[in-house]
Amino acid sequence: MARTAKVLFDVPEIKKDFPILQRTVRDKPLTYLDSTATSQKPRQVIDAMTDYYSRYNANVHRAIYELGEESTREYEGARERVAAFIGAKDPMEVAYTKSTTESLNLVAYGYALKGKRVQKGDEIIGTVLEHHSNHVPWHFVRDLKGVTLKYVDVDEDGRLKMEQYDDLITKRTKVVTVAQVSNVLGTINDVKEIAKRAHEVGAVCVVDAAQSVPHMPVDVRELDCDFLAFSGHKMLGPTGVGVLYGKKEVLEETEPLLGGGEMISEVHLGTAKWNDVPYKFEGGTPPIAEVIGLGAAVDYLTKLGMPAVRQHEMNVTGYALQELSNVAGLRVYGPKDVRQRGGVVSFTMAKAHPHDIASILDVEGVCIRSGHHCAQPLMDRYDLAATARASFYVYNDLEDVDRLAAALQKVNEVFG
Ligand code: ALA
Repeated sequence: MARTAKVLFDVPEIKKDFPILQRTVRDKPLTYLDSTATSQKPRQVIDAMTDYYSRYNANVHRAIYELGEESTREYEGARERVAAFIGAKDPMEVAYTKSTTESLNLVAYGYALKGKRVQKGDEIIGTVLEHHSNHVPWHFVRDLKGVTLKYVDVDEDGRLKMEQYDDLITKRTKVVTVAQVSNVLGTINDVKEIAKRAHEVGAVCVVDAAQSVPHMPVDVRELDCDFLAFSGHKMLGPTGVGVLYGKKEVLEETEPLLGGGEMISEVHLGTAKWNDVPYKFEGGTPPIAEVIGLGAAVDYLTKLGMPAVRQHEMNVTGYALQELSNVAGLRVYGPKDVRQRGGVVSFTMAKAHPHDIASILDVEGVCIRSGHHCAQPLMDRYDLAATARASFYVYNDLEDVDRLAAALQKVNEVFG
């Protein structure tokens, strides 16, 4: 793939929608390659949130006046668009949380710990490539309920060893959980197959979709997963809002994490009954402006078209893999085939520590992340302390990759 590699979108036009991409850093154009940590926001999202605060700020589901009707309409309208975006059959299968982390904690607490399905001695199957937010909540369940945690390993190219599910899944398995896309390796996992295997023994499949929903078409009915979690801020939306999708029947079996207003149908001294799904999970005043911003982000991505977003990222990532292979001493982790990976490229360099790489790139206006990426078990698996990581989104093009590659050559110059 030469410099003529195709870019599907008119990226210079897309960049104009993102105010932050107009600024410079250290007198250089901003080359933002850290969308896996958080994406930038288009003015359509920023405007939708400002519009809420400027024109119809009122609490939702409470007020019997026009402002409250408008805010409730927008809040629930966003739920309908989020549900359609992920192929849910009913908007009531979409609960708002504050983040992917909160969504996964809600499943661990409400379904596995407090619910009736998981009992002492049962098993939960994870993988070694999970983000900490899909490890630690299950540690809580193990410690408080006495379940056993088991993990599927990865091969040298960062692909799950799918055959290990044959031995790991047993009649005691109650939860099988997996990231659809690894935030470190970019590996795309076969969630549909994993959900099928979970269902064969009556277990539920819980998907961390933080790195998939923003970047590729995701259809929860096609995957047939039971729970799926993702965040607004990684998909052009604001921080402070996340989503938990669940099949209606499993959400009914899930206990709420937060007690308070809105999540109840009635309360008396000493007793309470829960509101219907999904409202029983939305105790307290929700992040209204953030939900409205998320709705605008979904509109933006829908207009681009998720198959096109995925193709665009494959093109940019393929070009990056090619250009990085020309940098002396650089090793890339994860699948070699761009069809098996998302737009995330983790790498190390022979002579420079990842933090040094990131610091030198910063001087060139190139933002990447370095560190363990909240995935220390995966770092342990490859005997690494850290990697450098570049990640791509709809506003990145081949010129961004060229700037990255040129800056990496400078790293080698500095370190001789
Ligand atoms: N989970 C985010 C990342 O991988 C923060 O960078």
